[in-house]
Amino acid sequence: MLVLNDTSLLKSRAFINGEWCGAYNGDTFPVTNPANNVLLARVARCGLDEITEAIKAADNALPAWQALTAKQRAAYLKSFAQLVLDNQQDLAQILTAEQGKPLAESMGEIAQSAACLEWFAGEAVRVYGDVIPSPSNDRRLVVIKQAVGVVACITPWNFPSAMLARKIAPALAAGCTVICKPAEATPLSALAFAVLAERAGIPAGVVNIVAGNSQVIGGELTRSPVVKKLSFTGSTHVGKLLMAQCAATMKRTSMELGGNAPFIVFDDADIEAAIQGVMASKFRNAGQTCVCANRIMVQDSVYETFMARLSEEVSALQLGVGTESSTTIGPLVSQRAADDVLALIDDAVEHGAQVVSGGQRSALGDTFVEPTILSGIMPKMRIATEEIFGPVAAITTFASEGEVIAQANDTEYGLAAYVYTRDIGRVWRMSDGLEYGMIGLNEGIISTEVAPFGGVKQSGNGREGSKYGIDDYLEIKYLCMGGLEEVQS
Ligand code: SIN
Repeated sequence: MLVLNDTSLLKSRAFINGEWCGAYNGDTFPVTNPANNVLLARVARCGLDEITEAIKAADNALPAWQALTAKQRAAYLKSFAQLVLDNQQDLAQILTAEQGKPLAESMGEIAQSAACLEWFAGEAVRVYGDVIPSPSNDRRLVVIKQAVGVVACITPWNFPSAMLARKIAPALAAGCTVICKPAEATPLSALAFAVLAERAGIPAGVVNIVAGNSQVIGGELTRSPVVKKLSFTGSTHVGKLLMAQCAATMKRTSMELGGNAPFIVFDDADIEAAIQGVMASKFRNAGQTCVCANRIMVQDSVYETFMARLSEEVSALQLGVGTESSTTIGPLVSQRAADDVLALIDDAVEHGAQVVSGGQRSALGDTFVEPTILSGIMPKMRIATEEIFGPVAAITTFASEGEVIAQANDTEYGLAAYVYTRDIGRVWRMSDGLEYGMIGLNEGIISTEVAPFGGVKQSGNGREGSKYGIDDYLEIKYLCMGGLEEVQS
């Protein structure tokens, strides 16, 4: 059962124009706890009418929000961040209940959300323009930056709080208003966020949250000419569909899509550090992150040592319900997600991979997959080409630096990569040669609000977080001031 200090954080209605409203036709959908299938809430299933209303609200709220000074918008974001921290326990409970991750990870995610709001409060007041040296004395050339306008944010179920904060925070800082559509599996964290946005005094219509049918809501958000930008985190497949839908109105897009991260361990690496790194990168959120180590590549001569230590660490993981303090790895988000991961394991085994440990659904329930190690992974197996999104460490070996770079880059994805080596020359050669937006060098956890998160190739475009993150929500406007008098000597 979900026990909260502040039960008013648990909402099941949409938040449109500062009002909490049900679907106009009364329709709802169930949100359940993936650990035990218990019903948490029935949430308003918004359709075309509600989304149209939300777009109108965001559009109406835009001029006044843009007209605030950056310092005023920053003050709202700071209060919002503080409220998120003040309610960290409750927000973490909601997050674990609807998503499944261990409570400690949820606490971390909520702290990350607050940090993101706080960071962009700081960036709001640093949106500088430029004065360009003019090619002639009778003209002055100036660049100013302005908010893109109304922004649609479509967020995933794996980080229902942090991914929302990563989008809302820079958008509001820049002077944009937002309509957010959380994933159907995890809308409660987003709705709780709306409660806190309201308490922070953010004006009606600036933040709108609508849950419901993805096709209908996504269709209208991408069709509407009022919406000037779409920020999406999710699969490459859906990202491409949304991008195509945005083409008709030439919307700006930020796409944070799938990954197939190589995790490369050279024979000169600190193997203990590599083990800690791979455990964090692979098993965080039960392997359901787009930056999770997907293909673990170990140099031949350290393979046996690495495998022995990895097996010890994996067998120490405690699979269980996220609210139990002993749990270090929770269920997957749904039975379907577990089925997909088990199908990848089966396919790998059919094509010659060996199960070193795990490999089965757990007796704990349909959504629980045992932490698994597979060896003998070959490049053409599905598990090596697709995003695993589950607790499966898929191990392969390599002989040389040149070979592993080619192998690591042999994917349509380009989000995150990891390299463990103590050779400084190799650090730079790998950093230059790997076709990825982010590289962890002797580090398995790279996400922070102060650094640019995003990918290349089919992992998407745009960056979230850091001083670069606000640019995704700003237009550049060039002013050419002519007719200026030449100075007479
Ligand atoms: C993601 O999986 O989309 C984000 C993961 C992270 O922030 O580390």
